[in-house]
Amino acid sequence: MKRDLVTIDDLSDETLLGLMDLADRIRRQLRGHAADLPGTLMGSLFLEPSTRTRLSFETAMLRLGGRVITSSDPKTSSASKGESLSDTIRIVDSYVDLTILRHPAAGAARAAAQIAEGPVINAGDGSHEHPTQTLCDLYALRCERGRLADLRVALYGDLRYGRTTHSLARALVRFGASVLAISQGDLQLPKFVLNDLRREPGYAVAPVALVGLESVLSRPEVPALWISRGAKESSEVRPMSLDPDSIDAIYVTRLQKERMSGAEPLGSLPILDHRFLAAPPFRQTVVLHPLPRVGEIARELDQDPRAAYFRQAALGVPIRMALILWCLGAVDLPAGAAPRARDSVVHGFRCENAGCISVLERGTIPPEVTRRGADDPRCAYCEETAVLAYGGRPFPEPA
Ligand code: NCD
Repeated sequence: MKRDLVTIDDLSDETLLGLMDLADRIRRQLRGHAADLPGTLMGSLFLEPSTRTRLSFETAMLRLGGRVITSSDPKTSSASKGESLSDTIRIVDSYVDLTILRHPAAGAARAAAQIAEGPVINAGDGSHEHPTQTLCDLYALRCERGRLADLRVALYGDLRYGRTTHSLARALVRFGASVLAISQGDLQLPKFVLNDLRREPGYAVAPVALVGLESVLSRPEVPALWISRGAKESSEVRPMSLDPDSIDAIYVTRLQKERMSGAEPLGSLPILDHRFLAAPPFRQTVVLHPLPRVGEIARELDQDPRAAYFRQAALGVPIRMALILWCLGAVDLPAGAAPRARDSVVHGFRCENAGCISVLERGTIPPEVTRRGADDPRCAYCEETAVLAYGGRPFPEPA
């Protein structure tokens, strides 16, 4: 079976850890791998802007001794002439051994993986997922904190449209993390992510009002969710105070303005600076950001040892080298059990999310719905649940 990476749930815990161990070994001799994949060709197809993801993938392949072809400007690719994703993928897949795809539509990577004969890696699909950024984030957490198990991580910023947090939250709870999701306005984690977090054994999602952080955070317009083993589901917002030095890492994201309709009530979150990190729960925190930052983190923090975002970005190369080796079958890693296996596939339904590939390319991509549990049907591509309809009737909302 070919090894695609569409969602972070395509990798078992064992494989994730195996990739990090391999990246550790690679990092010791980053320049010593030029004979690993001679003659192998990678296609990087980026139909949305990117700096780090594309360049770190390409660096990774070149350091492994392979070669790269790139389409990095959507305006110069045939997609701008109206070519379907299916046709583009069929062609690129016939040229190369491995395809890296970034696409503005949610679910594009799944569609591509179904079409391509070679492996496809999702380098970000709309506001859905960004699993290789999560590999880099988890690896950075393990390097900075010395472990992955049972961390307390605050996600901070646009959690609705920021795809990196969707993959990251799903992975963190698999390693026992407690996640504090702090967003602004309407930009909390989407339902499909929250439902998966709730489904993790022992986990619940509790709306909280953070107290004791008046100097930096306690404002009525800053809603937070505490996602943890032992949290209590409730419709009521309960006050919560954090212990000193209790947050291991804060993961900051920018507003994904390019994905917003403009109608979202936004509010604003305080910028991360020395004053913010002086609040007792954050004194020992490590600061992560997938980058690019556009003002969420003060530049004064760049010299602070807690600022790990540039170290995090540098880890993108060895972890992607490990991933490429694995996807191409050049290394074997422990297989482990697939997390959150998809349940039954239901036909005859269709997605109505305007940002979903199965809607944007209706006719070439057959709609598909999967069910997780009895009452959680979701589009197999974008996973948005609320917009599915069958015979004009919406699915029942999960209880
Ligand atoms: C992120 C992305 O593209 O989703 N960037 C990245 O890949 N490092 C985050 C962002 O654009 O804000």
